[in-house]
Amino acid sequence: MSGALLEIEGLSCRFGGLLALDSLDLAVEPGALAGLIGPNGAGKTTCFNLITGRVRPSGGNVRFQGRPLAGLRPSRVNRLGVARTFQNIRLFDDLTVLENVLVGFHGRLKANFLSAILRLPAYAREDRRMHDRGLELLDLVGLGRLGQERASNLAYGQQRLLEIARALATGPRLLLLDEPAAGMNPNETAALARLVRRLRDDMGISVLLIEHDMHFVMNLCESLTVLDHGRVIARGAPREVQSDPAVIEAYLGAGLETAPLEGGHA
Ligand SMILES: Nc1ncnc2c1ncn2[C@@H]1O[C@H](COP(=O)(O)OP(=O)(O)OP(=O)(O)O)[C@@H](O)[C@H]1O
Ligand SMILES: [Mg+2]
Repeated sequence: MSGALLEIEGLSCRFGGLLALDSLDLAVEPGALAGLIGPNGAGKTTCFNLITGRVRPSGGNVRFQGRPLAGLRPSRVNRLGVARTFQNIRLFDDLTVLENVLVGFHGRLKANFLSAILRLPAYAREDRRMHDRGLELLDLVGLGRLGQERASNLAYGQQRLLEIARALATGPRLLLLDEPAAGMNPNETAALARLVRRLRDDMGISVLLIEHDMHFVMNLCESLTVLDHGRVIARGAPREVQSDPAVIEAYLGAGLETAPLEGGHA
């Protein structure tokens, strides 16, 4: 058995006549900062949906820390240590920013339901701890002063950061980010790159991210897998992938050729 954190073998997904993912093999090593890229409709989000148990595969296996994830519900996959954000932001608009993070702790509550109802001391202590930890996570992602704001009042880029904070609240070992930089301005994107690197370097969280912003991807990720029409067309270090003719053709030259490399620092 390999030492990969996440191992995907022959993973396929069919929607009617469409083979959205065709026998994908992918390994994410512990401590990886990996990217999954490809044109629209390539099957990237579908891959995340299969890993996290939102969509059932038509074939293949996914193992996390050696454990098969087949048939597990999303909440169970999350409790095992896989957290994600969504391409289409999914926040509770009517809750505050902090409350949205607290939702992420829900699956980790140690005090049981009864003590929660009765407001026993153990629950109150846990409540306090979660509250403090929630504020720490908001600080970490750069939303420290916005805890009491309604989530719907946040700018688009801030909502993406809040999704990351909520994902972190679930205590992941692997974080799956679906287009985290979408809608962000260049300053926000640069801050996001620093954040993602800190999550890996300081918190030991492995990251697999989907992103169309090639400048961001090329400077942040250490390895890339490129999908097109559900199939892997290239994989390797960003510099190798960037000059791969199959990749350039898949993107019709858009973006990739012009994305400047900055020696791995975004
Ligand atoms: N639930 C579904 N039912 C039917 N078809 C789907 C479903 N989910 C995805 N698809 C189709 O599968 C293909 C892959 O979609 P997917 O969302 O994985 O692409 P993507 O690589 O994430 O693209 P984008 O960059 O636009 O987000 C697309 O053709 C899409 O229309
Ligand atoms: Mg997608």
